[in-house]
Amino acid sequence: MNQNIALPIRLVVLISGNGSNLQAIIDDINNNNLPAQIVAVISNKADAYGLQRAKKAGIEQRVLSHRDFSDRTQYDQALKELIDEYQPDLVILAGFMRILSNEFVEHYLNKIMNIHPSLLPKYKGLNTHQRAIDAGDKEHGCSVHFVTPELDDGPVILQATVPIKADDTAETLATRVHEQEHRIYPEAIRLFAENKFSLNL
Ligand code: GAR
Repeated sequence: MNQNIALPIRLVVLISGNGSNLQAIIDDINNNNLPAQIVAVISNKADAYGLQRAKKAGIEQRVLSHRDFSDRTQYDQALKELIDEYQPDLVILAGFMRILSNEFVEHYLNKIMNIHPSLLPKYKGLNTHQRAIDAGDKEHGCSVHFVTPELDDGPVILQATVPIKADDTAETLATRVHEQEHRIYPEAIRLFAENKFSLNL
């Protein structure tokens, strides 16, 4: 499906907060490890720290607050129009903490990825680190996956596993998982850009 995409591929990155995964992608591009360019970073929150990261990297930043819309359908329609201004080859959800409507997801089917802090299909949703500890799991991790209409679902592209230590808190475990997120998300995008795989739903 991405056979005809020219390198570097065009990415639009959606964030809601810190943007450490965004930073990992920026760093990999700057180190010439990732044949991609981020054409815009879009946040649903004006105070997302990731916007500052984008600014520092010279990337266009846009804010589209969900508070300015009366329902999900209207917000997602406006978000779709904003994203499409940039004609991305791939939409990257990097801590974008919104549930997306089916229509939105289907518009980008086969070209929208997410990273989730668990070994999917385990622990969809929130508080994944605490839930893994509470369940007595010995290992935990993160998953990059294509996005399909169901929350935190869709074909997994890459996963990384970390051990859960006896004295772990949700915070110490999150830190260990984050290190792996920052490794596998740029890697998954690189594999997509180099046409090592595609999805045809
Ligand atoms: C990441 O841990 C990511 O896996 C998670 O949000 C965090 C964002 O961190 N995403 C989800 O939970 C999606 N369901 P970041 O803003 O520092 O990249």
